[in-house]
Amino acid sequence: MRSFLVLAMVGFLASVIPACAANPQHGLDLAKRWCASCHVVSPDQQRASSDAPPFATIARAPNFNTRQLAYFLLEPHPKMPDLPLSRSAADDIAAYIATLANDDHRQGRAGPRL
Ligand code: HEC
Repeated sequence: MRSFLVLAMVGFLASVIPACAANPQHGLDLAKRWCASCHVVSPDQQRASSDAPPFATIARAPNFNTRQLAYFLLEPHPKMPDLPLSRSAADDIAAYIATLANDDHRQGRAGPRL
């Protein structure tokens, strides 16, 4: 009975969360919560720590890659605190950062609004 319930839940979740659908809007929420103390995470943010690159700069790096970024976020790394990110949270943040590479977004014409 219990395993049936678990299966039913997994089936339900699988149906409401399409595979690989990272959610940039959620990524922005997470970035504001976890990253904004050090990084400039959105175009309307004025201040952050000076040695952390703004997310828009990260997004425009020539070798930017959403998947690599998501993996980077899951690894512990120097200078940044250990962040309690799940795999899907990392995907969402990476997807959000990817939207910043778009100049339209910077001017507020596209992408998630705040
Ligand atoms: C306590 C401050 C701090 C917090 C919080 C923080 N970072 Fe950082 N982050 C840094 C610093 C400082 C660097 C630059 C590291 C370096 O130059 O070695 C960095 C570097 C990075 C890089 C690599 C940039 C590059 O060019 O290699 C990424 C990506 C990144 N941060 C993403 C995030 C994300 C996403 C979050 C939130 C989930 C976050 N950071 C939270 C301080 C922070």
